[in-house]
Amino acid sequence: MSADLSVNFTGLKFENPFLLASAPPTESENNILRAFDAGWGGVVTKTIGLHPVVNVRGPKTKFMRASADSCQISMKKLPNSALHSSWNWELISDKVLDWWIPRITNIKKQHPSKILIASIMAGSGSDKELANWQLLAKSCQEAGADGLELNLSCPHMDRADMGSNIGKNQELCSYVTQVVKEVATIPVWAKLTPSTTDIVIEAKAAFRGGADAITSSNTFPSIPLIDSETLEFEIHVDGFVSSGGLGGPAILPLALAKMSQMTLAFPDKSFSGIGGISDFSQALNYFLLGCGTVQVCTAAMLDHAIGPNVIKTLKNGMTAFLEKNAERGWKSLEDFRGLRRDRVVLQSQIARPTGADYFGGHEVSEGYSGAS
Ligand SMILES: Cc1cc2nc3c(=O)[nH]c(=O)nc-3n(C[C@H](O)[C@H](O)[C@H](O)COP(=O)(O)O)c2cc1C
Repeated sequence: MSADLSVNFTGLKFENPFLLASAPPTESENNILRAFDAGWGGVVTKTIGLHPVVNVRGPKTKFMRASADSCQISMKKLPNSALHSSWNWELISDKVLDWWIPRITNIKKQHPSKILIASIMAGSGSDKELANWQLLAKSCQEAGADGLELNLSCPHMDRADMGSNIGKNQELCSYVTQVVKEVATIPVWAKLTPSTTDIVIEAKAAFRGGADAITSSNTFPSIPLIDSETLEFEIHVDGFVSSGGLGGPAILPLALAKMSQMTLAFPDKSFSGIGGISDFSQALNYFLLGCGTVQVCTAAMLDHAIGPNVIKTLKNGMTAFLEKNAERGWKSLEDFRGLRRDRVVLQSQIARPTGADYFGGHEVSEGYSGAS
């Protein structure tokens, strides 16, 4: 009997807990159909807005590699190198709502048992903008989407009342979620930005607004590196750059730190983990911290645009893991989800060589030598 990879997450039944994240792999009907054929349990569409966006001239995404022979990290093709990260300054989908609606319906018709989450984004500067969130939500759900993901996290939107600018404001996180929940009959996930001081605050706000799950992380704000020969940024337009987003292996430990803060604070809530996943060992980190699903972007972009080999590796990895641990009675993700959540503690709770030498970082009046 083959292992049961299925999960129930926010009331939705996924045949496996692996989703393509909102990004180029899910930017078209053709890509999403290919992704479902390849075995992904679900997809989150590229973020859908109401107004057309215009991206910068030239490449929108590049990949950085780290050389094994030198200390170099570069977007140039280095010999003997491994993937370090993706860097992008792409905006949301350049196709607007009307383009997406019939496609969502058709995709669901062809794959009724696969899960399609529509990522949506509007502004927050006026009541009209807030009503746009409702319009997007209602339209996608009527078209057949199984759930909604609110993009409160794009780090490089060209509007000040959108994306991570909402995600950095706890009142707006709560309010936008609440506005969508007023019209939503399907689960609503809030995708938060990792670039705040304490993500637990924004997570709490989104849950207060009624979010059924938190998704994290979007890409981390970053700029491209400067080429030491040309003294130009490795990606630029007319010599200029602006802050963009870092994804891929480099962000795995950073994204896990954000996730562990939230799963510790809200152990009974639902979380979808993203950041630096390309095989099951990385996905396992998110599961052991408490996530119920995970999402993949960078690794899939580099694997035939939608990750047919990545999903195969993820599914095989989880199957092998369940088989290896069958003697512990583990039959599904629920049996090991969150198992390491409580191992992340304060520095002060980590053991010292001898407890008597520890003063919690405070001055000892007699000096260390006299404190034994
Ligand atoms: C080129 C590119 C475009 C992206 N576009 C979106 C988007 O439209 N909406 C969104 O929520 N996240 C977007 N993301 C973020 C990804 O969904 C994901 O959160 C991030 O890349 C981290 O995952 P990874 O390490 O697997 O790449 C984009 C990422 C990349 C690289």
